[in-house]
Amino acid sequence: MGTFNIVVLPGDGIGPEVAAAGVSALKVIGEVYGHTFNFDEKRIGGIAIDTDNNPYPEDTDKACRAADAVILGAVGGPKWDLGKQRPEQGLLAVRKAMGLFANLRPMDVKASQVHRSPLKREVVEGADMLIVRELTGGLYFGKQTRTETTATDECVYTVAEVERVARVAFEAARKRRNKVTSVDKANVIETSRLWRETVIRLHKEEYSDVELEHALVDSMAMHLVTRPTSFDVVVTENMFGDILSDLASVLPGSIGLLGSASLGATGQGLYEPIHGSAPDIAGKDLANPIGTLKSVAMLLRFSLNLLTEADALDAAIDAVVEKGVLTRDLGGTASGSQVSAAINAQIRESA
Ligand code: NAI
Ligand code: MG
Repeated sequence: MGTFNIVVLPGDGIGPEVAAAGVSALKVIGEVYGHTFNFDEKRIGGIAIDTDNNPYPEDTDKACRAADAVILGAVGGPKWDLGKQRPEQGLLAVRKAMGLFANLRPMDVKASQVHRSPLKREVVEGADMLIVRELTGGLYFGKQTRTETTATDECVYTVAEVERVARVAFEAARKRRNKVTSVDKANVIETSRLWRETVIRLHKEEYSDVELEHALVDSMAMHLVTRPTSFDVVVTENMFGDILSDLASVLPGSIGLLGSASLGATGQGLYEPIHGSAPDIAGKDLANPIGTLKSVAMLLRFSLNLLTEADALDAAIDAVVEKGVLTRDLGGTASGSQVSAAINAQIRESA
């Protein structure tokens, strides 16, 4: 029995709808398993630009730094596309402020879902991988310059940055199928050569029990489509991970199914679905809450160390999908709040 402080950042578009599903699942888990979750809702993204003229207001920053864990919905939307301040700046800021250097995106294709995949059954069935993306280095945080005719983006990685994220990947592999695929572009760029050398050295010194392979990012894109079942843990730098994880995310058939965890050195973490704010369906109760609920299961597991509760939530999600209570993106007719209610009922029933 514990008391935990959870900051909730609903954000924009469908963000508030899916974040509400996450909060309601935690409330049920609190009741059933005897924990107290204190929720503190704060602004981020477009809504924070509108009200605070800042995509990452100071009181949001203060709350996030002090929280046990943070749930984020999504940020952004056409309303802010041409503005000087961007909602995504809020996202980059919270990751940086909390020191979240590893982004974990699990993806699996269950037999019952395989018919929704854009790939053939024999190629994709049983695919089960964890992409670990470095989140606070590389191009997205490098110095940028701009004149009328020339733009530059600096890409920087240090040995320490590579080592800490590779460590997350090796540790995760030991709890899974014991294999790591490290992705880089070591044939061309210098940060990738440092990446590969560092991964090889760490593997030799501390993780030689884990199978390690290296792949170049361009051929990796191909392999993710042609043989997705051959990967277990995939680790890569920030931009490569952004692109490859979006590619992998569509394999199960809907972006609404997948969650993510962003972790730092302290156990504190930020948990969000991998999809965006989906302005096309916002406010209509059509958003699939499962990506957020999968993220909440990781929150329980990684930040609160509530493993039974995490497994119970994952199992409840699977049971409801199995029963065919599905939102429109999965070919069903249920609303987002119906799916959320069904999962909550399943948690109570199974406890
Ligand atoms: P998106 O992920 O918001 O939507 C892509 C498509 O998937 C849309 O057709 C949408 O309706 C559908 N979709 C997404 N989530 C769904 C869910 N839970 N249930 C059912 N259908 C779902 O990506 P898009 O359209 O490229 O971006 C929309 C806005 O979101 C943009 O402003 C973008 O910058 C922002 N964005 C924010 C992210 C974040 O907060 N982490 C990540 C990606 C985009
Ligand atoms: Mg992305």
